[in-house]
Amino acid sequence: MNVQDVQQAAELLRRGRLVAFPTETVYGLGADATNSAAVQRIFTAKGRPSTNPLIVHVAGEAIAQRYAAWWPAVASKLAKRFWPGPLTIVLPKTEAIVPEVTAGLETVGLRVPNHPLALRLLRAFDGPVAAPSANRSNRLSPTTARHVREELGDAVDLILDGGPCQVGIESTVLSLVEAAPVILRPGGVSKQQIEAELRVAVQIRAVHAAAEQPAHSPGQQRLHYAPRTPAFRFDGPAVAIDDAAVGYLLIEESRLMPRSSPRTVLMPNKPDEYARQLYGILRRLDTMGLDAIYVQMPPDQPQWAAVRDRLRRATRTLV
Ligand code: TXA
Ligand code: MG
Repeated sequence: MNVQDVQQAAELLRRGRLVAFPTETVYGLGADATNSAAVQRIFTAKGRPSTNPLIVHVAGEAIAQRYAAWWPAVASKLAKRFWPGPLTIVLPKTEAIVPEVTAGLETVGLRVPNHPLALRLLRAFDGPVAAPSANRSNRLSPTTARHVREELGDAVDLILDGGPCQVGIESTVLSLVEAAPVILRPGGVSKQQIEAELRVAVQIRAVHAAAEQPAHSPGQQRLHYAPRTPAFRFDGPAVAIDDAAVGYLLIEESRLMPRSSPRTVLMPNKPDEYARQLYGILRRLDTMGLDAIYVQMPPDQPQWAAVRDRLRRATRTLV
């Protein structure tokens, strides 16, 4: 990736076009967050309901401050500790961010991504870039440039290829507009890390009961990050089923299950590594024409919160 590509990408953004770019979490589909027509193109390209707000990406804390109506001390603390990084901070927005970005909400999610190419693009563009994950609505987020091409094809004007994403699942979305900080979507920065930094209790809102509620945080809808193949989750040890038309994502080896094969994947036992591989593996299983994918859930422990959240959105319970 050369300097010219970044300059060209920035120029496209200035002209109201769409640019997909890598971040440490997943690839984003970017547009100028101050340009309504450009932002509308994102919703069209993704087939995304216009009630689902977008995250605004900026090059640094000083620039983030320009787009938040106020910037509390907690935001500064978090920015200094976690930016650039997989944390999105929700605060009241300024006028510069057009209403299409936030689906009419008075708040905006801001983040500084930790990827050299994303940062170069944001500096070259020198403004706020609205960017959801660069996938069709409700599908798995892309973690490589090839995934973006598969998802969006010609709907995107340019794709910057920065290799595979290192975190692999989306950022933590943290709201600072309530009495206490609330995690609206668990992600690369954990509740424990935020609490250690702020020395206050942080809530995780009960996201999985939110299916029928209005889209307060649309990432909270069920089956939001899902493969096309019906996917089911189960807890505990793997049972003795083997079906040539079923794919398996296992967390522990089992003598009862088919050995590691293209359709039986023994996942890493470390949350970071699991997250990094998750979407790519689900995407691959999704191309195999399977009847179903069975997912063995990792343990219900804090370090697995973000991975479990995505698995719960991608699967139904196996009964
Ligand atoms: O890691 C990420 O966050 C990736 C990369 C590209 O930065 N972006 C991403 O964007 O996952 P998206 O659009 O797929 O998810 C954004 C989610 C929304 O679904 C919503 O849950 C939350 O962020 N969000 C955005 N703005 C919000 C706001 N003002 N209030 C509440 N939630 C908001
Ligand atoms: Mg998304």
